[in-house]
Amino acid sequence: MKIAIVGTGYVGLVTGTCFAEMGLNVICVDVDKSKVEKLENGVIPIYEPGLEELVRKNHNDGRLSFTTDLESCIDDVDIIFIAVGTPPDEDGSADLKYVLEVARTIGRSMKKYVLVVTKSTVPVGTAALVRSTIQKELDDRGLNIDFDVASNPEFLKEGNAVIDFMRPDRVVVGVESEKARKLLSKLYKPFMLNNFRVIFMDVPSAEMTKYAANAMLATRISFMNSIANLCEAVGADVNMVRAGIGSDMRIGKKFLYAGCGYGGSCFPKDVKALIKTASEYGVDMEILRSVEKVNAYQKGLLFRKFSLYYNGDLKGKTVAIWGLSFKPETDDMRDAPSVVLIRSLIEAGCKVRAYDPIAMDEGRRILGDECVYYAKDMYDAVLDADGLFLVTEWKQFRLPAWNVVKKVMNHPYIVDGRNIYDVEELRSLGFDYECIGRRF
Ligand code: UGA
Repeated sequence: MKIAIVGTGYVGLVTGTCFAEMGLNVICVDVDKSKVEKLENGVIPIYEPGLEELVRKNHNDGRLSFTTDLESCIDDVDIIFIAVGTPPDEDGSADLKYVLEVARTIGRSMKKYVLVVTKSTVPVGTAALVRSTIQKELDDRGLNIDFDVASNPEFLKEGNAVIDFMRPDRVVVGVESEKARKLLSKLYKPFMLNNFRVIFMDVPSAEMTKYAANAMLATRISFMNSIANLCEAVGADVNMVRAGIGSDMRIGKKFLYAGCGYGGSCFPKDVKALIKTASEYGVDMEILRSVEKVNAYQKGLLFRKFSLYYNGDLKGKTVAIWGLSFKPETDDMRDAPSVVLIRSLIEAGCKVRAYDPIAMDEGRRILGDECVYYAKDMYDAVLDADGLFLVTEWKQFRLPAWNVVKKVMNHPYIVDGRNIYDVEELRSLGFDYECIGRRF
């Protein structure tokens, strides 16, 4: 079996590379010529642990190739995955122009049966649109060629994508024919060794599953953030509450961590898009509007704590930031809590000293380097600082040399946005320490 993956962004590149690693012949297609050239030289455009090595290995072994020319490979492959970007429109809905452009190209060039699979996160109804777009091109060419469209949403987490792909909890596949079902069963068979399930369903349900999963996870986080804020008010500790409720099997332990809000390219975009889809069908997703509202509030929380601590007298204060990316093990800063915090600090006249193990270039790109000093390391960041914010829980921030930190800070004040430090320890070392929803 030979497959093509269109779009070498995050999802496309991980998908293509992992299928090649399983022994398949994979062609990755992207319109961006320089990106394709770099990939051919083993240089990947994103930071994702383990991915670059796999790209190089599979490219050298001849199972993974890259091209800008989709048309030339359409009839060479059995399955085409569409994994191009779906940037949010101004109104929050996913922009399908790239997805439909790929569908048009397929319809214009195909000469034999092909299975087209949507892998990008697309609203319910997109597979049907892809089908009608391909069909229209075939009609224009006066051809009657059989093809299938399926939906196979992705559940990868940034920073853990290769492992998630190779050892998934489940694979969700929406199909509309037995032929498509057989092809996709065969494709995912090598992964069965790890005991996971392929869940087959109809296409709209598969499309909906993707959004429902992300919306559910975002809801859990906003719920826990609200509980944390209440814990703080009543003198309870959210970590204990988390342990208490998480041990109920029906609730489960994962994704219950209170913090300074969720970010990234998925939760914010998908929650917005689901609200939009629902409103188009006359359904009010009140719960998701609250999820968004709580998250926006939470992203402002670190700044509000800081401002309260200094009674609003923030002008000229020096502030250290540990962590810029929206979560550890990625350089992605899309919708990151750090961006909201740093912008508020700059507006209040503070001097910002930021450090992130990987996202420094991304920081410069998003925040510029006029108002932010990008520190050489985590200790350089805290030099003369009147406050330190832990925003992203990178491993290297977990056990700092507190004596060094205390010595170089101007005032020993820490706001821990991810609840990773020990309250008692920091207090005993003489720090003023605040966190999210914990007792002290
Ligand atoms: C998320 C989903 O977890 C993936 O399953 C999905 O495939 C992906 O979106 C996608 O749609 O492509 P990702 O955005 O990479 O993955 O990151 P997560 O690990 O889910 O974290 C999202 C945000 O939630 C981060 O800002 C993280 O700090 C925050 N979070 C996570 C919490 O605040 N508390 C938690 O308990 C867990």
